Parts: sequence; C-alpha cells; structure tokens
Amino acid sequence: MPVELSRVEEFALITLNRPEALNALSFQIVDEIGQAIDEAAASDARALLITGAGDKAFCAGADISEFLDRGIVEEIAGTEKGQQTFAKLDGLSIPSVAVINGYALGGGLELATACTLRVATANARLGVPEIKLGLIPGYGGTQRLPRLVGQGLALEMVMTGRMLNAEEALRAGLINRIVEGDPVEGGVAFAREFSAYSLPVLRYAREAVTRADNTALQEGLLIERDLNTLAFEGEDSTEGANAFLEKRAPKFQDR
Ligand code: COA
Repeated sequence: MPVELSRVEEFALITLNRPEALNALSFQIVDEIGQAIDEAAASDARALLITGAGDKAFCAGADISEFLDRGIVEEIAGTEKGQQTFAKLDGLSIPSVAVINGYALGGGLELATACTLRVATANARLGVPEIKLGLIPGYGGTQRLPRLVGQGLALEMVMTGRMLNAEEALRAGLINRIVEGDPVEGGVAFAREFSAYSLPVLRYAREAVTRADNTALQEGLLIERDLNTLAFEGEDSTEGANAFLEKRAPKFQDR
C-alpha cells in the first residue's frame, strides 16, 4: 500500500510508502492520505504522526509524471483535492506531527506545514521548488508558509525554490525540533511532550493560536476569552488546579 496507517503506542502513524519515487504524491496517494486521516480521527490515538518510508525523503512533492495532458477542470479539481485533504488536519480533534526524514518538497512541505507541529532529521531539506517547473505551490504552500515563517522568507522560498536545511528551518520556526536517531522515535518523544495533557484543552489551544492568523486583535482576544472559559468549564482544569495544590501529578480525563 502506498499509504500505511499503523499504531505506535498511543499514537497513529501514517507512512507514505513509495520510496522508489521519494514518496511523491500521486492522486491516489492524496486520496489514501485523506482516508488514513479519517481512520486516525475515528481511533483513540492521542496524536497523529506522518512520515515517509526510507531514509531519503519525507515526500518529494506532487507526482510530476501526472502533470502533463490535464485540462483546466482536472487541474482545479486536483488542487482542491490536495487542499481539502491537507485541511482535514486542521479539523482533526488530535494534534498532528510531521516527522520529516529527508526531503520535504512542494506538496511534501505543504503536507508538513498542514500538520500542527514538525520535527526533522538533520539531513532534512525543505522547500517549494515549483517555480523551477514553471508553477507555484497549490496545496496550501503560499498560504501556510508565510504564516509560519513570515512573508519575506516565504516569498524567497516560493520565488527561488531554494531548500532550507534543518538548522535554517529550525531558526525560521518552520520545524520545532531536529531529531537524532530513529525519526519516528524522535517524533514520538516530541509528541509525548504534550500528549498526556487534556485533548479537548489541547484543541482549544490549537484553535486559539491558529485563529490569530486570520483575526483582528480585539476579535482574537474574544476568541481566546471564550476558549479559555470552555477550558475552565472542563473537569480537567479542576483536576489540574487540585493536583497542583496537592503537589501531585494531574490525571486528566479528556473532559
Ligand atoms: N514526482 C515524481 N517522481 C519523483 C518526484 C516527484 N515529485 N521526485 C522524485 N521522483 C522520482 C525520480 O523521478 C526518480 O525516479 P527514477 O528512479 O524512476 O528516475 C526517483 O524519484 C529518485 O529521484 P532522483 O531525482 O533520482 O533523486 P535525487 O537524489 O537525484 O534528487 C530530489 C532528489 C528531491 C532533489 C529530486 O528528485 C527532485 O528535485 N524532485 C522533484 C521535487 C519537486 O520539484 N517537487 C515539487 C513538485 S510540484
């Protein structure tokens, strides 16, 4: 199967499994990623990790061999399909972590930036090289990249196609950690930094922060007030305060 969904302890793991083509995103693979995200959403996993098979690439982008001889209707439908599939990660009730093990280019970087957070191996190379093909990104790259790294660097990346190495990506805020050793184990260790916290509260946190991108400050503060109030209304915030006052570790129940 070009896309595999498995379980690593309390986490769901999607592996893009087409290493002979550097895990390039055929339309079939995009479809299968969507199905795997739906399955992960229906499971009791506490986070979703996404990685690529092999040690060379997370994903080298859309499958260039499918680019030719497509009419405008197919092109629009293809772009919408990719955008909608990756947007499923925004609405996922659990956080997602891209485990970038090598190249993350074009659609591969767009998939990674659609995840909540990102870790990468030291040999990772991240870029949007579409300009070299006479194209621009189409699966969210022109929108998510500037939100993560700012307009200046996003424009440079989109207009030159230059790849960032892992250190540059870390400095730019494009990735959260550089991992050593087995990349999935590194991703699991990173996910453990938040996965024991209350899932609904993690979701409020994601929502509040990501809504800041599209919201005027006063409106954003109202969103924060409401989500903060929802967290206060949950049993887990009572447990958190009690645990602190009783000097013990909290036991959150996702309520
Ligand atoms: N679509 C389809 N096939 C791809 C691909 C893509 N995006 N990226 C790599 N492949 C295939 C290559 O055609 C090659 O297949 P082959 O062995 O049958 O010839 C195989 O994967 C290995 O890639 P190769 O180019 O030989 O590896 P490399 O180490 O020399 O270079 C890259 C690695 C990532 C720099 C190079 O493959 C590349 O530039 N890929 C395209 C990246 C891109 O433009 N992505 C955006 C698409 S919109």
